[in-house]
Amino acid sequence: MCGIVGYIGENDSKEILLKGLEKLEYRGYDSAGIAVRNGSGITVFKEKGRIADLRAIVEEDVFGTTGIGHTRWATHGKPNRVNAHPHQNGNERFTLVHNGVIENYHHIQRDYLADVPMESDTDTEIIVQLIGKFVEEGMTTEEAFSKTLGLLKGSYAIALLDAEEEETIFVAKNKSPLLVGLGEGFNVVASDAMAMLQVTDKFLELMDKEIVIVRKEGVEILTLEGESINRQPFTAEIDMSDIEKGTYPHYMLKEIDEQPAVMRKIIQAYQDENDKLVIQPEILDALQEADRIHIIAAGTSYHAGLIGKEYLEKMAGIPVEVHVSSEFGYNMPLLSEKPLFIFISQSGETADSRQVLVKIKELGHTSLTITNVAGSTLSREADHTLLLYAGPEIAVASTKAYTAQLAVLSILAAVTAEARGIDLGFNLVQELGIVANAIQAQIDAKEEMEQIASEFLSTTRNCFFIGRVMDYFVGLEGALKLKEISYIQAEGFAGGELKHGTIALIEEGTPVIALATQEAVNLNIRGNVKEVAARGANPCIISMEGLQEAGDSLVLPKVHELLSPLVAVVPLQLISYFAALHRDCDVDKPRNLAKSVTVE
Ligand code: AGP
Repeated sequence: MCGIVGYIGENDSKEILLKGLEKLEYRGYDSAGIAVRNGSGITVFKEKGRIADLRAIVEEDVFGTTGIGHTRWATHGKPNRVNAHPHQNGNERFTLVHNGVIENYHHIQRDYLADVPMESDTDTEIIVQLIGKFVEEGMTTEEAFSKTLGLLKGSYAIALLDAEEEETIFVAKNKSPLLVGLGEGFNVVASDAMAMLQVTDKFLELMDKEIVIVRKEGVEILTLEGESINRQPFTAEIDMSDIEKGTYPHYMLKEIDEQPAVMRKIIQAYQDENDKLVIQPEILDALQEADRIHIIAAGTSYHAGLIGKEYLEKMAGIPVEVHVSSEFGYNMPLLSEKPLFIFISQSGETADSRQVLVKIKELGHTSLTITNVAGSTLSREADHTLLLYAGPEIAVASTKAYTAQLAVLSILAAVTAEARGIDLGFNLVQELGIVANAIQAQIDAKEEMEQIASEFLSTTRNCFFIGRVMDYFVGLEGALKLKEISYIQAEGFAGGELKHGTIALIEEGTPVIALATQEAVNLNIRGNVKEVAARGANPCIISMEGLQEAGDSLVLPKVHELLSPLVAVVPLQLISYFAALHRDCDVDKPRNLAKSVTVE
């Protein structure tokens, strides 16, 4: 949440900062700003809205070779120009951008800044005001920065400019991600390597509670006590074409279309030279030793976790619980002797999940992160990592990461089953290949999904998704997709549960999207459809070859029943996409959301 960039070098920083912010817009997009060191002082431009709105007010003739920038997802204070970053202290010597939440900002204001007028409603402003105050009291900027960081509680990634120290950007982080990028005669700062791939692919990872002094000739990493730290850079292995939309109108559509290729990439990545599925032996040991698995995740990743439970229990025979991460840390169930914690997170940065990881590490439990982002916080801090190999996912609505999560979870379950001597009775590699083709068939039939979206969703205010067994979990994901990008109120239910209350909401014409891909409950879900249809609902049935009946709206190609969620979710992604388009919604950047939720 929120994106930060910084540049210090010999070229004009404005365009580099703006381009960087455009790449970080997925992290928040309610307001944005840049500050440029401009000869005599620091010029700040900020605006409510998107980076395009900011770009429109940035004056061409302001030239500065040092600058910082920010794109915001509001936590404290409305998304308006005043609350947009950068923020400055009273005499405007210091200018700062911040990503994160300062939990004790009220206390700091009361104890240190009672006499300092605040301009904004943000938690951020106290940081820059406090640094200014400490410097007025006689500290150097570095001392003031370090002392201030020592007082902050919460999460932060910070970049600071001092109008009197021309050649420096002061940087620090705690819990929120931040990288320094290295160049020839320049250096950069970014929340995500993607933002600065335009100028470098060499990055330094920053650790919590370090002070980093970024100059154009070099970067110095210090402990809070001032001791120097030596760290080797890494090369970001992201292809620029992976993060461009190309000819697609939206990232979401591009990412939906990439799913068959992602399936094939995952199969390859998890096969050895004999085409056998493998995972690292240490991970296999951790699964073998566990008496219970706890899957911890949020949003779409939580929905993937619900299916992951089915895989690990049905294929590998290990009991699994799935938890919403924002709840688990504060309401932990009784834990067994030897639990294993699996964190599922596309971004690897979700703060709700990280707070659980921190707590279970304190308890001495083993952890595995399944993520799309190598080197992300959840990956670095867990004992083990499995990667999704889905390529960067830019659209806020998660699509290819979800199907990648399901594929990797199925591989994890299958390899564990084999290690436990369980015969699955099918070849997962072959079955995932069939899944890739079935997904492609859905992608090739986009007009049908567009037709369904316009027939069932063009005027409705609400929509229900129903299913049983695994279809219920896919329905939850379908509902999340539809509501987050089209703003249609959508909920997923277990088909049999409707009659216990929710059926009261069914009115003449209420769309009910029913999934029927599970043989054992095919008659049951069809019975549930009849119940809602009898009360006026407009049912749209998505079934699977072999289970179809006359009148079904869509029949999916046959795949192994355990893997049907990977295919059944694709029409739901596409239907949501077209429903959002019909309503003129901003598909890639839905209101009030951000891609990477780095605040609790
Ligand atoms: C879904 O489309 C959302 N992007 C959201 O629910 C997301 O899955 C959730 O915020 C968790 O993110 P993560 O996978 O990066 O941890």
